[in-house]
Amino acid sequence: MAHGHDSDEKIVYVGDSRIRSKTSRLTQPDYSAFPGKSEVFIPNFLLKEWMVAVVAMVGILVLVMTEAAPLGYPADPTNTQFIPMPDWYFLFMYQLLKYPYASDQFVVFGTVIVPGILFGSLMLVPFLDTGKERRFYRRPITSTLMMLSLVAITYLTVVSWTHYQHELTEKNIIPEHIKREEEMHAAKSAGLPAPSTKKTAGAAIVAADDPGAEIYKKATCVTCHGAELKGIPASGIPALRGVGDKHNQEAILGIISKGIGNMGPQHDDNIKKGLTEADLTKLAEWLSKQKS
Ligand code: HEC
Repeated sequence: MAHGHDSDEKIVYVGDSRIRSKTSRLTQPDYSAFPGKSEVFIPNFLLKEWMVAVVAMVGILVLVMTEAAPLGYPADPTNTQFIPMPDWYFLFMYQLLKYPYASDQFVVFGTVIVPGILFGSLMLVPFLDTGKERRFYRRPITSTLMMLSLVAITYLTVVSWTHYQHELTEKNIIPEHIKREEEMHAAKSAGLPAPSTKKTAGAAIVAADDPGAEIYKKATCVTCHGAELKGIPASGIPALRGVGDKHNQEAILGIISKGIGNMGPQHDDNIKKGLTEADLTKLAEWLSKQKS
């Protein structure tokens, strides 16, 4: 063998006298006997690799510039129903932090020590697993550790995801992106144009200097429908912008005193807050002016 380092070997076959049977680690072996079959790593091979990398990089850059990544929906700080979730590849870490010995007073254990050991040992693998053996069943320690990690990560990810799904059904939440997709499909199958998310929220506030606007801020309405009249669509609270297109002043007064759908009667609460009947009438009048 031309590159045999084993000095105990009796017969050393060397095809070419220019290739020494014992090559020093520091000098390049002479591969000139195999023209076209091999080449030196530095600089020839590295340069080729580099060229390919540059082409791939330029390709990615072009894609990034032409097909901009879609942005998510704007964050809504008033949406109390939102369940924050990490990306799928971090679900296992997220799940880990739900266990009593990895959270609360042990949170350093869950956030620093366990991930530290996991990722730290990954870096140490080349130094610890130095055996020449490549078959996985001949490397029981490494293989077992890897299998255990895979099983643990899969288990934690699945548990985390099912828990999230249960939470959604229990609290009756449909995540915003799915809700919007459903609305879009519903509109499509009904032959309507895709609903614009800005349809109601985009309508401007009419007569913002009306006395009714001041009353609105003091009334109960503001806690749910918001100071900007945008509501919390994700929680089923409609925007009141453009509400005048749907309900007139009388209807809105009726909604205030009797409630509507999931919204309870608001009349008594507002009287308790110090508003008068006349205030509520003005409020309803102002809301009825909210036409898009
Ligand atoms: C506890 C939260 C809450 C409060 C407070 C509240 N609303 Fe509502 N409002 C809702 C919800 C939820 C709905 C949707 C009801 C449904 O359709 O099931 C709604 C619907 C409405 C609608 C009908 C909107 C439409 O598109 O048909 C009007 C009008 C309205 N509210 C006005 C008011 C006014 C005026 C006040 C203050 C006096 C008020 N709301 C206070 C939660 C609230």
